[in-house]
Amino acid sequence: MPMTLEGNILVTGANRGIGLELVKQLAEKTGGEAHIYACCRAPDGTGAEALRDLTTQYPGKITVIKLDMSDEDSVSAAVQAVKEQIGDGGLNLLINNAAINKPLSPAPLSATGKQDMMEVFETNVVGPFLIAKMLLPLLQRAAEMKSPGEGDKMSCRRSAIINISTLLASIEKCPESFGLAQMYPYRTSKAALNMLTRCQAEDFKSLNILVTAIHPGWVRTQMGGKQAPLNPPDSVHGMLSTMSSLSNKDCGTLLDWQGNPIPW
Ligand SMILES: NC(=O)c1ccc[n+]([C@@H]2O[C@H](COP(=O)([O-])OP(=O)(O)OC[C@H]3O[C@@H](n4cnc5c(N)ncnc54)[C@H](OP(=O)(O)O)[C@@H]3O)[C@@H](O)[C@H]2O)c1
Repeated sequence: MPMTLEGNILVTGANRGIGLELVKQLAEKTGGEAHIYACCRAPDGTGAEALRDLTTQYPGKITVIKLDMSDEDSVSAAVQAVKEQIGDGGLNLLINNAAINKPLSPAPLSATGKQDMMEVFETNVVGPFLIAKMLLPLLQRAAEMKSPGEGDKMSCRRSAIINISTLLASIEKCPESFGLAQMYPYRTSKAALNMLTRCQAEDFKSLNILVTAIHPGWVRTQMGGKQAPLNPPDSVHGMLSTMSSLSNKDCGTLLDWQGNPIPW
């Protein structure tokens, strides 16, 4: 796959699962000018060992940033740290990947309470809302820096927000999977993330910032479980390929990892 992503790229939930694989493939496949801000809750903890190994494998290419998406102060501190490192530059790509699913699947109604709803919404919706709002000046700067000759052409190389969503959040497709896993907090939070994507797409299109939601497929991670058919390398390879090809027509849409549209 020709990797045509470049510039400053921020990934949340980067210490394991799909997020870690995103950092790995971005580090492997982008050119020398690219820099990856890999955000996770506990950069020094045992859960971030694989991410720390990647920073050694790709010296100078990855900066690990402490970020808890459910904590506004943490989001603010992480954004400040990124701003300081980027200096006069911009942020080209924000990938909102971190998320939780509570209670554990199949998460029936009887096992789900207010606390689950609140925690899942904080991480899956409020966090992505806040981080995009706080990073907007950097995204805007990246969009403006690329403007000579590009006009109103949007891309993930120029300036973009990718919100990692799920097929389970499709309102139209809900009856097809509801019987297998009810997952009220997860489904409703990701449906809200889809609406956030649509609102941001409308709001930021005059700034030439692309906003798209992508479903990674059903992937073998802690969240996806062992029975999932896709492995993280294949899902991420497909998603990065899809991201590389996004343009104005994809702004405000929900796509799968292979670039196929999913109905809202
Ligand atoms: N796997 C699938 O089949 C599947 C399907 C559809 C959509 N997705 C979506 O794909 C994305 C990645 O999922 P995954 O399968 O890689 O899940 P995962 O293996 O459970 O990893 C989730 C990641 O999010 C991080 N995270 C959770 N809460 C956080 C918080 N408050 N602040 C910062 N980071 C936090 C975790 O960090 P800690 O280690 O600190 O917990 C971890 O790095 C999610 O948005 C998920 O909804 C996955």
